[in-house]
Amino acid sequence: MDQKQDYANTILTELESAETLNSMEVAKSLSINHQDLVGCLLQLESSNYIKTEGFKQDQLILTDEGNTILNSQSGEYEIYQKIPEAGISMVDLQKLFGIEQMPKIKQEQGEKKEKQAEDPKKKQFDLGFGNAKKMGYIKMDKGVITKVANDLPDKIKLELSSFNTIKLGTQQAKLLIERKLAMISTIKYFEIKKGIKYAPKFREQFAALTTEQLLSGEWKECEYKSINLCAEGEKISMGNLHPLLKVRKQFSQILIGLGFEEMPTNQFVESSFWNFDALFQPQKHPARDAHDTFFCSDPELSEEVDITLRDKVKAMHQTGGVGSIGYQYEWSHEEARKNILRTHTTAVSSKMLYRIAQQYKEKGYFPKKYFSIDKVFRNETLDATHLAEFHQIEGVVIDKNASLGQLMGIIREFFRQIGINKLWFKPTYNPYTEPSMEIYGYHPVLKKKVEIGNSGVFRPEMLAPLGIPEDVNVIAWGLGLERPTMIYYDIRDIRTMVGPEVKVETVRSNAFCVFESK
Ligand code: PHE
Repeated sequence: MDQKQDYANTILTELESAETLNSMEVAKSLSINHQDLVGCLLQLESSNYIKTEGFKQDQLILTDEGNTILNSQSGEYEIYQKIPEAGISMVDLQKLFGIEQMPKIKQEQGEKKEKQAEDPKKKQFDLGFGNAKKMGYIKMDKGVITKVANDLPDKIKLELSSFNTIKLGTQQAKLLIERKLAMISTIKYFEIKKGIKYAPKFREQFAALTTEQLLSGEWKECEYKSINLCAEGEKISMGNLHPLLKVRKQFSQILIGLGFEEMPTNQFVESSFWNFDALFQPQKHPARDAHDTFFCSDPELSEEVDITLRDKVKAMHQTGGVGSIGYQYEWSHEEARKNILRTHTTAVSSKMLYRIAQQYKEKGYFPKKYFSIDKVFRNETLDATHLAEFHQIEGVVIDKNASLGQLMGIIREFFRQIGINKLWFKPTYNPYTEPSMEIYGYHPVLKKKVEIGNSGVFRPEMLAPLGIPEDVNVIAWGLGLERPTMIYYDIRDIRTMVGPEVKVETVRSNAFCVFESK
């Protein structure tokens, strides 16, 4: 336990029996400086253990000179002690105090005389000598200085040794002030009473709840500081874009430049239907487990989608169509209505494809290129490279002539514009694309290939129920926004980029992102 807590506990124990305490007296009894106690009082008061009221009081304190005397001896006593039994002349006595005698002629010159008077040693000597005479320590007879009596005590030192008992306003106090051995100083002290949360023992209050406290269950026993919701935040001279926003802005500019239009992504809560079912993802798929996905409890279920659409999706899952046998299982309507936090922005793309198909009914076919950059959520264990929420950049091309080659071309062009030229594509499996490709890029710092995205050609099993004509192809890809941002800004731990650990200063000083194409 640190000292502050010791002081705190002393105060609290004393308050158990006393109605009020005086902080000056507490400091005295603890033999500490009053100022050192003030910090402890503030802490106790902020956690409502105590209540304090401040008062001002004049106090007699020793001057530097007073202190010096108390710690050694008074000037007059020093002189008294140096005088030998047989007496001494003034010149010899002054010599004992290291005071040089000025030659006679020079002394007569006004200028020099002044200089000698200024000598601090001489000044002090004269003062002590005067006092020694006044106080009856010494006498002077025909040029010889002698002691009045032997073994006299140092009266001033004696007086100062009981300084603490000298009351302000007494004659004694007045004299000490006159002789500049003491002075009046105004001090602030506190009257201490029990606070609303008074307890005889101080318990440390924590400023924040930690993961460790949560895991160990320790939080149940811990006390926490209350949050001052009225406290004003630090004033920030101007707003700054967060690194993710800067990169996001630049990426959307590149995509707009490539003729893509932004999809509306302002819906974090999505039904499982748009996030999974419409993407031909079977209901038993592991990604639909609570381990991977956040399910909503209120409202637990989403509103009904168009029944025709629902039945088409259901049929595709259960028995198939467009040359597929489907998954051959009992599709649950209820399962599809479960609300979740979207796990990928492909949930937005599937909804968009349905809208486009609706428009085709009225206007007929037209090609379209869409993109989105927004947040998705996964039930991940948080560490230096994983957060439970992150951003995806997604692109969709709806075109009769769209091909795998075009998909690779667009991805290459996008990365070329941010300075990444070395790309690899690796076949993979997605329930909603066939063929599917993972995208790898060369990491200049790690000096190795890292996965940067996933892509593919949407399957007919997905497109047909949405109403996309059979001769229209849809190619798509999804990338993470955090990884390129961390590489660009040299951020090693994702938790210092997103969340409460982010330093405003870094955000302020980060360069505006300018990816250069090579
Ligand atoms: N939705 C995929 C993911 O979250 C990315 C993707 C998008 C893959 C579009 C193919 C097509 O990783």
